[in-house]
Amino acid sequence: MANAKGAKKTANKSNNKTAGKDSKRPSLKREPVEGNSQLDKFFHDSLKDIYWAEKQLTKALPKMQDAATTEELQNAIEEHITQTEEHVSRLEQVFELMGKKPQAKKCDAMEGLIKEGESIVEETEDGSMTRDVGIIMAAQKVEHYEIATYGGLVSLARTMGRDDVAELLAATLEEEKQTDAGLTEIAENDINWEAEQEGGEESEEEEE
Ligand SMILES: [Fe+2]
Repeated sequence: MANAKGAKKTANKSNNKTAGKDSKRPSLKREPVEGNSQLDKFFHDSLKDIYWAEKQLTKALPKMQDAATTEELQNAIEEHITQTEEHVSRLEQVFELMGKKPQAKKCDAMEGLIKEGESIVEETEDGSMTRDVGIIMAAQKVEHYEIATYGGLVSLARTMGRDDVAELLAATLEEEKQTDAGLTEIAENDINWEAEQEGGEESEEEEE
């Protein structure tokens, strides 16, 4: 029984990089490790990436807010602009805690998501509810990207024994989740329905 797991699971993993020294799994309890491991570099690069993304969002969100039709969505975006500014400064604190200078590195994914939001604005009619539907969807794609990123970073920070860093990142993660949920609520309670009505009025024809 004791060898059953090893026999099955490690049969094809003899070249596992962690194998060799010890076949035991590493303990989950770790001492904080400072250094220049591959993981440290990866973590630092990921911070630069999301730092760039948040900074770009502080510029892109006001444009989305201006383009939005309803006051409800404008207010939701307004609130998230304030949060996003806080996310930027939390990341600056994280860089500082890690002993690094805040540095941004272009995030291709966020650039694409922001571009997508801009083309939705271009392709929808000014003052229409459909535009708000589109802006909400674009904003939620941004939120989901951020949730994935911060979720991963929080886990990594904990693994690396940096609970101080994890705590800051977790605060931002929570706000991204709340924003995402708030947008779903606005869409489902009002805007989607109103956009659906708008289509009917314009064509003056009942469509099944
Ligand atoms: Fe954010």
